[in-house]
Amino acid sequence: MKRVLVATGGGDCPGLNAVIRAIVKRAAQEPDWEVIGSIQSFDGILKEPTEIKVLDDEAVKGIHYQGGTIIGTTTKGGPFAWPIKNTDGTWSSADRSDEMIRKLQYLGVDAVINIGGDGSQRISQALYEKSCPIIGVPKTIDNDLMATDFTFGYQTAVQICTEAVDKLKTTAASHNRVFVLEAMGRDAGWIALSAAIAGGAEACLIPEIPYDIKKVKEKLDTRFMNGKGFGIIVIAEGAMPIGGRALAEESDELGNENLKLSGAANRLAEELKLEGIEADVRTTVLGHLQRGGIPIAYDRVLATQFGVKAFEMVLEGKFGHMVSYHHPNVVAVPITDAINQQNLVKLDSSLVQTARGVGISFGD
Ligand code: F6P
Repeated sequence: MKRVLVATGGGDCPGLNAVIRAIVKRAAQEPDWEVIGSIQSFDGILKEPTEIKVLDDEAVKGIHYQGGTIIGTTTKGGPFAWPIKNTDGTWSSADRSDEMIRKLQYLGVDAVINIGGDGSQRISQALYEKSCPIIGVPKTIDNDLMATDFTFGYQTAVQICTEAVDKLKTTAASHNRVFVLEAMGRDAGWIALSAAIAGGAEACLIPEIPYDIKKVKEKLDTRFMNGKGFGIIVIAEGAMPIGGRALAEESDELGNENLKLSGAANRLAEELKLEGIEADVRTTVLGHLQRGGIPIAYDRVLATQFGVKAFEMVLEGKFGHMVSYHHPNVVAVPITDAINQQNLVKLDSSLVQTARGVGISFGD
């Protein structure tokens, strides 16, 4: 019997379970393969006793429309930076990657499929460079991975964000208010931009285009006459004014050095008030609502395509590669192509031009 180990790493994302199910269903068509999952990314392998779960037909029944991941995930630590508590109470980290690779061999693992975003795929590449037979599957609501047209989870986040714009419009119109809706996305404005177009926002502020607050206010002013009117601004959490920086808090979570982006919507509301905007300005921060719940059909299909392809890449021995969507095909690309650069919104892209074409202001 051959064994493929599946891990889900980084922030969860709608569609993870659909990928897991597709891997299991495709593997079941081969006579000699078993699928196991490592609980909470690679922590399951590194922990004593080992925490792994057999992923058979029974385990994945009906999970394709469930949010989250049945094998858990973590944004902390990992095999190259395992948190260690020192005797004086402080923390440091250790590289346990060699030990993990030995443990995978001991467990009879012939291949690994690592489903995750940029951080997870960096780990995939580093493990591959240590001769670990690994394949990556791109996951993130942020859509910021290169070398794939889309990551799964992104379209679901856009849908949730768009529904929020739709809901805010009715209350904004009833009260003649301006609403600022803060979307996730880290350094990329994909979610905010797509939701602004789909929802018909007046302005969309993204990290790729620093904004001039005067221009943002000018745009909103056109939406009000004799105090009547309303406006919706979708702002990405990483957005910044010209000459400013994205607002972020240092994370105090052990092993999670990522900065936590937060405060963009509230800062914008304050700036609008300082500019003398007359309308009431309210803010809504969508946060993790964008990551939870059921994946939309598009992401279930993409996730299923990714899962089937990932297992077929195992059969072909295409290690060191990541599954990638290049419309209309799902192909294999070197993991390095995905992690060498971030996929940010391009200023001359069709999406930006479309937004401008329907009068959405970027505050520039
Ligand atoms: O990368 C996905 C994401 O949801 C980002 O959009 C967001 O900035 C971050 O993760 C939040 O991380 P956490 O769940 O660790 O707070």
